[in-house]
Amino acid sequence: MDPETTKLLQTAGKIAAQVRRETAILLSKPGTSYLEALDTAEKRILQLGGKIAWAQYATNDVAAHACPEEDDTYVTKEGDLVKVDIGVHMDGWLADNAMTVLVGKNEGEKTVLGRDLIKASQNALKSAMKVVRPGVQLWEIGEAQSSEAEALGFKTVRNLCGHTIDRFKVHGGISIPSYNNKDKTELEEGEIIAIEPFVTNGDGLIREKGKATVFMVEQEKGVRSPHAKKIIEEVKPQNGLPFTTRWLTRKLGKGTTALGMKELLQSGVVRAYAPLAEISSGMVAQFEHAMIVKEKPLVYTRHEDDEW
Ligand code: CO
Repeated sequence: MDPETTKLLQTAGKIAAQVRRETAILLSKPGTSYLEALDTAEKRILQLGGKIAWAQYATNDVAAHACPEEDDTYVTKEGDLVKVDIGVHMDGWLADNAMTVLVGKNEGEKTVLGRDLIKASQNALKSAMKVVRPGVQLWEIGEAQSSEAEALGFKTVRNLCGHTIDRFKVHGGISIPSYNNKDKTELEEGEIIAIEPFVTNGDGLIREKGKATVFMVEQEKGVRSPHAKKIIEEVKPQNGLPFTTRWLTRKLGKGTTALGMKELLQSGVVRAYAPLAEISSGMVAQFEHAMIVKEKPLVYTRHEDDEW
């Protein structure tokens, strides 16, 4: 990896880590509007000189892929387990990172469980990062995560994976398992990867649930209606990275957005990423860092206050 690319990744990582922590602190207070917190996150990414790849949250049994709509009134509640996933890029070079916080301070049963899940996910991430090196086989990284989750009586979510990262590509083509799936693929020096153990007290599987607010352009092909064309124009700067409903409704209005999105989804130009909920309604905690594979991996999304 050339020094310029490394520099861009590190800059993106610094911004992503800062905004992740700021957003998590906001959302750890009961009564915080998700809409305000995520709008603030996007504003902060730009203020700090980054480009927005995404700013998402997920609460309790939802593992990932929630974004507030423009009229969302959802607020945090005492005892909620909130995940914040922030993506920042510099010229397409991506920093992907996430963390989980507990809302409020009460000492109820839900809080104790949440705290343990947070610990287990942090342990899983730390232990996985310890085995990352050129030549490591993917199953080893998976086993490092699941064994830490199991040590505290939990499971990793088996159908959610870490991933390699490419320029303007959240998923670079290689999935990094969160358990021993026997995959003997080896990581190579210089690859960019994100490791993100989702840990749950449930069955350890997720499925799509509810209305999607996260989307990506899948393929550029015949877009007919003016509504759909406007949307494609609007999300062009994302260059294949995610976009969310409220970006569109604020610029184009709800009517154009609804009609255009319907066409784009039906024709397969855009793919929807619905919220991912644990199948047995287990609570889910997640921590994530992005790194460059080296003998000692260069973790470029670490914040000085991160204890993992
Ligand atoms: Co990721």
